[in-house]
Amino acid sequence: MSAAAKSANVLLMRFLRRKLVLVTVVASVISVSILYVSWTPWGRTTVDVRPSPGSAVEGLLKKRLQDWGLKYDSIPFQLKESVTSRVASNSCVCQAEPNPVNVPLIKLLFSSVWAKYTVSSFSAAERSTMKDNRAQEYQRYQRRSQNAADLLIVAEANSPLQFPTQGVEVNPLGTILIPGLGIQEPPRDLHLVNFTAAMGTFDVAAKVEGVKVEGEGGSNLTLSSGFLANLNRQLQFITYTNTLFHPNTADTVQFSSGGHRSVFIIRIRHRVSPRLYNTGPKGDYNITALVTFATKTFIRYDKLRDLIDSIRLYYPTVTIVIADDSEHPQPVKGPYIEHYIMPFGKGWFAGRNLAVSQVTTKYVLWVDDDFIFTANTKVEKLVDILERTTLDLVGGAVREVTGYTATFRQTIMRESGGAEGDCLHIRRGYHHVIQGFPNCVVCDGVINFFLARTDKVRQVGFDPLLARTAHLEFFIDGLGLLHVASCDDVIVSHASKIKLPWGQSESSKAYSKFRYPAMSYDTIHLKDGLLYFKNGIQCMSSNP
Ligand SMILES: *[C@@H]1O[C@H](CO)[C@@H](O)[C@H](O)[C@H]1NC(C)=O
Ligand SMILES: *[C@@H]1O[C@H](CO)[C@@H](O)[C@H](O)[C@H]1NC(C)=O
Ligand SMILES: *[C@@H]1O[C@H](CO)[C@@H](O)[C@H](O)[C@H]1NC(C)=O
Repeated sequence: MSAAAKSANVLLMRFLRRKLVLVTVVASVISVSILYVSWTPWGRTTVDVRPSPGSAVEGLLKKRLQDWGLKYDSIPFQLKESVTSRVASNSCVCQAEPNPVNVPLIKLLFSSVWAKYTVSSFSAAERSTMKDNRAQEYQRYQRRSQNAADLLIVAEANSPLQFPTQGVEVNPLGTILIPGLGIQEPPRDLHLVNFTAAMGTFDVAAKVEGVKVEGEGGSNLTLSSGFLANLNRQLQFITYTNTLFHPNTADTVQFSSGGHRSVFIIRIRHRVSPRLYNTGPKGDYNITALVTFATKTFIRYDKLRDLIDSIRLYYPTVTIVIADDSEHPQPVKGPYIEHYIMPFGKGWFAGRNLAVSQVTTKYVLWVDDDFIFTANTKVEKLVDILERTTLDLVGGAVREVTGYTATFRQTIMRESGGAEGDCLHIRRGYHHVIQGFPNCVVCDGVINFFLARTDKVRQVGFDPLLARTAHLEFFIDGLGLLHVASCDDVIVSHASKIKLPWGQSESSKAYSKFRYPAMSYDTIHLKDGLLYFKNGIQCMSSNP
């Protein structure tokens, strides 16, 4: 039950306890209205499910905000540059920042920032069609994803009206008591209030003496009384019934009295079904029950077998899901192993997607097929932080053969840039250390070794168009959806990534050729195209 519905019910309960007579009245009115709701179609047989039809209220709210802005137009002001430059302004740029001093070794200490405009990979003709098509798709996306609950609503000065500013929610076609309604004004001959809704109707769950109610069961309701106290009492029994089935939208209720007008929002949505995982009895974390290890392989069966052997030393019964798009797949057998063969060369993100799609546990641990588990690869620690926080994904650290340990933490910031698209700024580093977890920080992107909530990873997905080199793309897609962290005390080892060509095995050579092709025109074209079109990014800057 939503907070609002709960408080409405608490309110109702209080009255019910106090007045026995009222009990029967309220109960019968409510049950009658519930039956009524479930039986009558309210005369409406159609619903316009085209994205955001846009309401009259929207225009009204905008107009009043503009009028307010114009009211003090003549009074001069002086801009404060240091602040205005930080306020989102729909015009952003990506700028390269060279190293402060040009000394060879300085690169190891400070990294320079490079910048790139994604459109620069396209011809002028390509650019203009892409821009037009993107603008069209973006508009559709916005209309689909926004509703009245996203409206900017300003509570105007000195309103005698009391109403809920947020948190009122109703099931589609459901009925609720609207909590918190009231009016505070000096006594007068007649006190009068009006309600108007666009997607539902009003009624009263109980009648109060001395109050005239007009329009019960309709979308305009008027209450009037010579007694303010009675009117306020009556306002505690106002119900709203959604009559237009259009979930994940919101109704804008206009509430007015005399010259005062206010608007508030009632969200219309189904109660969301949670997806809960039965992880067994309390106690130590049972990694087998909680986590599936997922990996993607291509040709490197020697590496994959080493990985599996190392995992089995520490986690003998954890399920390992392997996606494999090798040309000549070899069998990978063993207990708790699921080996999925894909069409040849489907690619890196397609494989990640497939592997994650088969996971049935609450968490999925992503590992590359050339990692090696050691005594430092304590998956329990990663489970612990996800179980005890609101985080969705937490990365670990990878120890290279050289002994160097990498966490590859990144912050990603998206700056609004208007019609050209936004600017994306990627930097090495993190935002904060996490309280209670001194080895962990919050950031926006992490290394190829992470534990995540399975549902959240699926929600973001790995774009299968990204076939070869890709990694941060997942975190760019996930910006705004994933709450990400990185811990440096859970370490997996990397089995020789950087090897000289003459020391490589045949499969490694084939792998390198396939996985790390010289950045071809096509690859750059594809990646820049996805950033520009799919993500709406005009440029990015990064310190590698
Ligand atoms: C309800 O009020 C709205 C706006 O004030 C008006 O357009 C509409 O005609 C009214 N409907 C009824 C049934 O009175
Ligand atoms: C309330 O609605 C009635 C009938 O729709 C209208 O006559 C009246 O002017 C409205 N009053 C206010 C305060 O909006
Ligand atoms: C851990 O979970 C697995 C799979 O659900 C189960 O078979 C096993 O008995 C559990 N182990 C413990 C120690 O509870």
